[in-house]
Order: sequence, then structure tokens, then C-alpha cells
Amino acid sequence: MKQISIIIFFFILPLAFADLELGFYASSCRKAESIVKQVVQKRFNRDKSITAALLRMHFHDCFVRVRTIFIHVQGCDASLLIDSTKNNISEKDTGANDSVRGYDLIDDVKEAIEAACPSTVSCADIVALATRDAVALSGGPKYNIPTGRRDGLIANRDDVDLPGPNIPIGALSQFFAAKGITTEEMVTLLGAHTVGVAHCGFFASRLSSVRGKPDPTMDPALDTKLVKLCKSNSDGAAFLDQNTSFTVDNEFYKQILLKRGIMQIDQQLALDKSTSTFVSNFASNGDKFVKSFATAMIKMGKVGVLVGNEGEIRKNCRVFNKRN
Ligand code: HEM
Repeated sequence: MKQISIIIFFFILPLAFADLELGFYASSCRKAESIVKQVVQKRFNRDKSITAALLRMHFHDCFVRVRTIFIHVQGCDASLLIDSTKNNISEKDTGANDSVRGYDLIDDVKEAIEAACPSTVSCADIVALATRDAVALSGGPKYNIPTGRRDGLIANRDDVDLPGPNIPIGALSQFFAAKGITTEEMVTLLGAHTVGVAHCGFFASRLSSVRGKPDPTMDPALDTKLVKLCKSNSDGAAFLDQNTSFTVDNEFYKQILLKRGIMQIDQQLALDKSTSTFVSNFASNGDKFVKSFATAMIKMGKVGVLVGNEGEIRKNCRVFNKRN
């Protein structure tokens, strides 16, 4: 009994009560947020696709299987950034994370922040802040995010638990619900597919060239375009939002209502009864989408965070700090 009380006191209570805070670095590293913003802005000026890279990176970092034995909380803890070593294959080296990109931008931000405030700002917060800044630069919402995340001490490929783009909507909702995210918030977060690309391998099964007949849920003109793209280069990539491909806006929802979703998961959002109303609402109300997107991103950024004295503040986002 005494042992159980000790476990509750040392492990469960801090998790239940500690939380993220707005302006967590206001006194410890006053310039933290402005440094992140500057580095992101510089990259964005030459590469507008960085917003898509960061959105996907943030999502993949936050959505990791939670280990139940000994309560290893894992979520938005920068575990995705850890490089593999000869003794450990890390999260980034799995199929689901193969095309995740933008690690070099996080390195640049970390270097600039370490020069100003050594060992103070976590890589997990850098990912969340950089994503927030890139979204605003791409025409999306400007919003504050709470910080104070700590960096995780585990990065193992066996913990990666991301579904593929052909997952049915019911199972997708369950996947998000397991992290405390509602179906409406899920539809909102999938709105991140308003920027970025998908490679042919992720949507080829929908194409008439592979199926042998047209997919009734895809606009025939889009099918023709994608068949041509993937025939000329099987590793080609198509914009997920065929209209405003670099802008964070509600156009993605309008496109899927026109059967112009690239991946099955996106197209199904517009067709499934449990999600189609949310899609129509966002398609007809851009302001509602932008506001909901900010709220849903803030919520996603809280999944399984480490706070207080859990985890560590990595000096280099790609490697755990050395233990004495
Ligand atoms: C379980 C739900 C999801 C699935 C199955 C999924 C699947 C995919 C796939 C297969 C790609 C194409 C990757 C490639 O070809 O390189 C992709 C791209 C992308 N995903 Fe998702 N996604 C999901 C949810 C999300 C969420 C919640 C976000 C962010 C909040 C997100 C943001 C992105 C972005 C921005 C891209 C474009 C990346 C780039 O251009 O580099 N996705 N997603």
C-alpha cells in the first residue's frame, strides 16, 4: 500500500497537475519566441513548403503509442527528432516517418537559441513554436501557444503508431479519440492537408490506371492529371490542396466537396456521415475553420507532454544529453 502511495505521489500527481504555460520562457529566455520566429521567417522566405513540413513533423511527434507499463508518457516531446544509433533505431527511421522533413530547420533554430540561452528551451517547444509561426506566415491563424514542454528520453521505432491514408473514417476517429481528440477536431486537424504534398505511393490505389476503372469518388479530370503525373514519375508528388497549395485556408474542404481530395482519407472526410457536416461547415466558413484550426493545434500540442522536471532540455535536438 505504502509503495502504491509513493508511486502515485512521485509519478501520477506531477503529471496530473503540471501544465504548459503561456510565456513560459518570459524570464528564463526572453528572446526565445522571437528567435524561433526569425529563423522560420528566413527559411519561409526561400521555401514556402516549410509550413507543410513542420505541420506534419509536429503531428508525427505528438502521436506516438503510449506505453502503459511504468507510465512512460510520450507525445509532443521531440522524440521524432532523435537520430538512430547503432543500438537504437529511432522513430524517424520508420516507413511512416520516411518523408518527414524540416529537421534541419529545427537544428538551425536550436543553434540560435542555445547561443542566447543555453540548455533552457526544449526541442519539443521549438517544434510547436516553429509550426505555429509557419502557419501564420502561410496565411493561417496567428495564435499564442503555451510552452514548457520537456524533451523525451525515449525514441524507439516500435512506438510509432501512425495509420496509413486508406484507414476508414470510423477507425480514424477512434485513433484520434485515444488521444482525447474529438471527431470535429480531427476533421479540423486534417485541414492541415491544405498545404503540402503526397507522393504517388500514397494515393496510387485510387487511380484508374491501377484500379482498372475510375474511382467514383474522384473527379475524372483529377484522375487524368494524377495518372499522368505518376506514370511519368512513380515517385512524383501532388499538392494535397489542388487550389491554394501553399496557403493555410479552408480551400482543402471546398476541394474535397468537389471530389478533388488526393488521398482516400481526405476524400472520405467529405463523404462519411460522421464527418461530412463538419467539412461543409468549414468549406462555407473560412473564419470558423481558421479559429478552430488554432484551437485544435493548441490541443494537439498538449498530447502526452512532459513538464516540470520530467525528461530533459536537449542541447542538440538529434541526440539525448549525455548521462553522467
Ligand atoms: C491519421 C491521420 C493522417 C494520415 C493518415 C495522414 C497521412 C499523410 C500522408 C500519407 C501524407 C503524404 C506524405 C508524403 O507523401 O510524403 C501526408 C502529408 C501531410 N500531412 Fe498528413 N496525415 C494525417 C493527419 C495529419 C495531421 C493531423 C496533420 C497536421 C496537423 C497532417 C499534416 C500533413 C502535412 C502538412 C502533409 C504534407 C507534408 C509535406 O508536404 O511534406 N497530417 N499525410
